[in-house]
Amino acid sequence: MSNTIDNGKRRFLTTAASVVVGGAGAAAVAVPFVASMLPSAKAQAAGAPVEVEISKLVFGQQMTVEWRGKPVWIIRRSDETLKSLPSLNSILQDPSSNMASQQPDYCQNASRAIREEFLVLVGVCTHLGCSPTYRPELAPEDLGADWKGGFYCPCHGSRFDLAGRVYSGMPAPTNLVVPPYFFQDDNRIVIGEDPQGAA
Ligand code: FES
Repeated sequence: MSNTIDNGKRRFLTTAASVVVGGAGAAAVAVPFVASMLPSAKAQAAGAPVEVEISKLVFGQQMTVEWRGKPVWIIRRSDETLKSLPSLNSILQDPSSNMASQQPDYCQNASRAIREEFLVLVGVCTHLGCSPTYRPELAPEDLGADWKGGFYCPCHGSRFDLAGRVYSGMPAPTNLVVPPYFFQDDNRIVIGEDPQGAA
């Protein structure tokens, strides 16, 4: 009698075990699908790289894309703009971009860019996070005769030049951030990923 019961239990246990295995088997089938979904869900939350077509950008024009929930600007700078950058060095907080956190190594140069014509910046003020306004015009009335074009933060008045370098004595302590990026080809930039071979 007890044997019968034991056998019955064993049968039940065996059946239950095979159900569990079957369940595990079913789960195992689902795993590859779920696993293939995870990186993109994770990558999206972390901010997947953004590919941007720049072939239609004309000199002086600004375009804005979103990366990691923040605005990223791409601005095409003229030769005149690039030539004017060094003339501001004496009134800037960090003219040589010495603060390493504000740009990747490959943009720690006079134009803060891979190709000097294209400026790529995170459009968030380094003071308290407002988004500065692009003000490319020369000497507008509200910004004064010395204004050579740049970005003006309407929240507390921080000024940045056309390389995103902050003027001295501003509420913003550091230059605007240059995100990691690379040129996929002549007409496309990928924001959020370093160029191959970058440290
Ligand atoms: S947030 Fe830009 S100056 Fe304060």
